[in-house]
Amino acid sequence: MTEEVLKVENLNKFYGDWQVLHGINFDLKKGEVVTLLGPSGSGKSTLLRTLNGLEDYQSGAIYFHGKKIDPSPKNWQLLRQKIGMVFQSYDLFPNLSVMENILLAPVKVQKRNEADVKKEAEELLRRVGLEGYANSYPRELSGGQKQRVAIVRALAMNPEIMLFDEITASLDPEMVRGVQEIVEDLSKHDHMTMIIVTHQMNFAAKIADEVLFLEDGKILEDTPGNEFFKNPKTQRAREFLDSMDF
Ligand SMILES: Nc1ncnc2c1ncn2[C@@H]1O[C@H](COP(=O)(O)OP(=O)(O)O)[C@@H](O)[C@H]1O
Ligand SMILES: [Mg+2]
Repeated sequence: MTEEVLKVENLNKFYGDWQVLHGINFDLKKGEVVTLLGPSGSGKSTLLRTLNGLEDYQSGAIYFHGKKIDPSPKNWQLLRQKIGMVFQSYDLFPNLSVMENILLAPVKVQKRNEADVKKEAEELLRRVGLEGYANSYPRELSGGQKQRVAIVRALAMNPEIMLFDEITASLDPEMVRGVQEIVEDLSKHDHMTMIIVTHQMNFAAKIADEVLFLEDGKILEDTPGNEFFKNPKTQRAREFLDSMDF
């Protein structure tokens, strides 16, 4: 049986009086790629942020390797080292070089040996096609290059899970493919466990082991990727796929 890395149990989240996530249940197995799909405002980003301790929740539980997560800020600080996240907006530090951006958390937070991390970082930069950019600054890079640095920065923490929130949404069309290929490579060659939010249906169809389709903060369906794109269970998901020109 494949090992369960993350399990979400009846999770409910409110912003004030208003409920944004309703009774969310799913699990994520080692090496699995779960893709969150759904219309804008359905709660995809909120769910990902909750899984990274950036949002609180009012009831339900999240389990990491079978152990219920204690949602204290201090504990999330530790867990966040194992659950990497990349956002649409890169969020690189503009005043730090590419290498300084990458080294910051592994050296300052994880207290790892700087020379060791640097070696790993150089290897990762080579892998994403950014060899020779270690001393560049974010402003000197294209959007696609910045997003690759953001991915490398998250990977340099050696996370067990990667969360990707629409990481190609701000990129020029010709940059999208290269970033998607990096994510595909992480799945195929590293068997990285991932949760991906994307509006690129071709990419989702290629990479998703499991699709969670959300609307209004509820999971309307939880369907294997190879079935979802051919034959979704719900009419709503069918309409969504049709509207995406897929
Ligand atoms: N900080 C916040 N306070 C109040 N409402 C929010 C906040 N962040 C998001 N929302 C609302 O929660 C809903 C889900 O948002 P979000 O998770 O960003 O959806 P998605 O990523 O699927 O587009 C939306 O209606 C959004 O307006
Ligand atoms: Mg979002």
